[in-house]
Amino acid sequence: MVYQVIIPAAGQGKRMGAGRNKLFLALGNMPVLIHTLRVFEADEDCENIILAIHPDDESSFKELLNQHGICKVTEFVKGGKERQDSVYSGVKTLNKEGIVLVHDAARPFIKRETIRQLVKAARAGGAAIAAVPVKDTIKKAEGNQVTETIERSGLWAVQTPQAFRVAVLRDAHDLAVNNKFIGTDDASLVERLPHKVVIIEGDYDNIKLTTPEDIYFAEVILKMRKDQG
Ligand code: CTP
Ligand code: MG
Repeated sequence: MVYQVIIPAAGQGKRMGAGRNKLFLALGNMPVLIHTLRVFEADEDCENIILAIHPDDESSFKELLNQHGICKVTEFVKGGKERQDSVYSGVKTLNKEGIVLVHDAARPFIKRETIRQLVKAARAGGAAIAAVPVKDTIKKAEGNQVTETIERSGLWAVQTPQAFRVAVLRDAHDLAVNNKFIGTDDASLVERLPHKVVIIEGDYDNIKLTTPEDIYFAEVILKMRKDQG
């Protein structure tokens, strides 16, 4: 079941505090960006990759792609201020129907099996997201004053990839632009169409590298994967 993938990679990695885009940071012997791209490069169902980048990173990214034999990137699109703007730049280049995935460049540990399930579910229902059940107790607060404990059952921590029929994702982004709505993921735009979104239970180790300690966790996950072969 073939698909295309939009990979937003145009962030600045401010919370990582590395002084440059965190996607250049090494994990094992490769930059984070290359770990993520290699998953799609190796997946024969992935037809092509649309990469949203910051213009400052363009030449370094292109060099890395060459160096690591990444050939499936067909479009480099200019990222925007928000992640959503970067994804939208990619959405505007989609020129055929079918299934499109959106996947954060900062999540290098996505598994082929999850991708396969997402594509299947998106074909059937139009929209599917990877998520894991929330493990912590979640409370709401005003300042440091707790106002509410939220019932945990039914809460999911949402990840990427998120998979959509192209028309669904395009309509959702167009509507968000028209309504000046900014969401923190693509599914939240789809929900506002409204259109139903299905959850595919993913893996806790599909982490997004966000803050410096995530690098340590990532090194451990990488080692575990290597040991498992
Ligand atoms: N991203 C993007 N365009 C933006 C912001 C983010 O393409 N304007 C991408 C990032 O490169 C990353 C993914 O969206 O692959 C998830 O974003 P996040 O983890 O927040 O990364 P950054 O925005 O780079 O980090 P920070 O928020 O700490 O600055
Ligand atoms: Mg960000």
